[in-house]
Amino acid sequence: MIYLYFYIDFYIPIFRKVSCTAAFKMIEINKLKKRYSNGAYALKGITINLDDKVATIIGRNGAGKTTLMRILSTQLLQTSGSVTINGYDIVKDVGEIRKRIVSIPQEASPIGYLTPLEHIKMYLVARGLSFKQADQDASHALRELELWEARNQPCDMLSGGMKRKVFVAMALASNAELVFLDEPTTGLDPVSRLEVWSSIKMLKSNLVLTTHYMDEAQELSKRIVMIDSGEIKEEGTPASLLKRFTGKVRIEAPFNDPKSKYRIGNTFIRYVSPREAEKFIKLGYSVKRPTLDDLFIVNGVEYEA
Ligand SMILES: Nc1ncnc2c1ncn2[C@@H]1O[C@H](COP(=O)(O)OP(=O)(O)O)[C@@H](O)[C@H]1O
Ligand SMILES: [Mg+2]
Repeated sequence: MIYLYFYIDFYIPIFRKVSCTAAFKMIEINKLKKRYSNGAYALKGITINLDDKVATIIGRNGAGKTTLMRILSTQLLQTSGSVTINGYDIVKDVGEIRKRIVSIPQEASPIGYLTPLEHIKMYLVARGLSFKQADQDASHALRELELWEARNQPCDMLSGGMKRKVFVAMALASNAELVFLDEPTTGLDPVSRLEVWSSIKMLKSNLVLTTHYMDEAQELSKRIVMIDSGEIKEEGTPASLLKRFTGKVRIEAPFNDPKSKYRIGNTFIRYVSPREAEKFIKLGYSVKRPTLDDLFIVNGVEYEA
């Protein structure tokens, strides 16, 4: 049992009984910086308000997503700057915030020898629910997310996607007002990703999630915040972000094109009007319709196509 508590404490350090009165919504981040002990700044002064049902922080590996999530969910102290969630300060009012949130860390994996039902019940009891209530809420969440048939199998026997769904079920059962999900689908196969997406859509809480997949950001949220090197590079709705490519196509040269502003590996990239593109086709360029993935390119960030 000590081991189990250590495990939960380490991965999900949120232990108090949940109240779910008003939605825990507005996150105000002001000049947030984080410097690790090696002297490097993982966050270089982030200022943004997040008040959407689902907000997605997108960025490549090392962008600062996990650092930001850990600070917002009161697991890591910032170096400077402030954050309030519905007016509660993440440092001074840590107890108030922890009552209302759930944080699912990157690469979280359930304890292998526990079943999904045991796992979720144990978590809910640790949050302050009675055994009876925990059993009811866990069962309800497992049914909602179509994990009921797997409820008594050791988690070790579940697929990667099902394991992630156990954590989503945990968040659902907890009835928390705000859920942080750090890279919930990284490393999953395409079908498992779809399954996890559909389970995330069942969450009633407000949600902040991180990903490095643009399709995931588009599918799950209306608000996208792109960060890189600890700074915000872009933010807006998918439609507003796409607007900057209106009337443009992407042309790619597989050879050195000195006029190209952007380069990924040996591919040289420019954005031109469709009419201009015609002449480039004859010169051996390929033409692509821009998508939100192009935001990575124009921000000088290599992206996962
Ligand atoms: N504990 C740590 N000590 C020193 N540097 C760290 C630590 N954790 C993360 N970093 C560095 O901070 C930067 C941001 O990391 P992270 O927040 O994990 O990014 P992401 O989640 O977007 O991949 C990276 O350069 C990473 O190497
Ligand atoms: Mg991370």
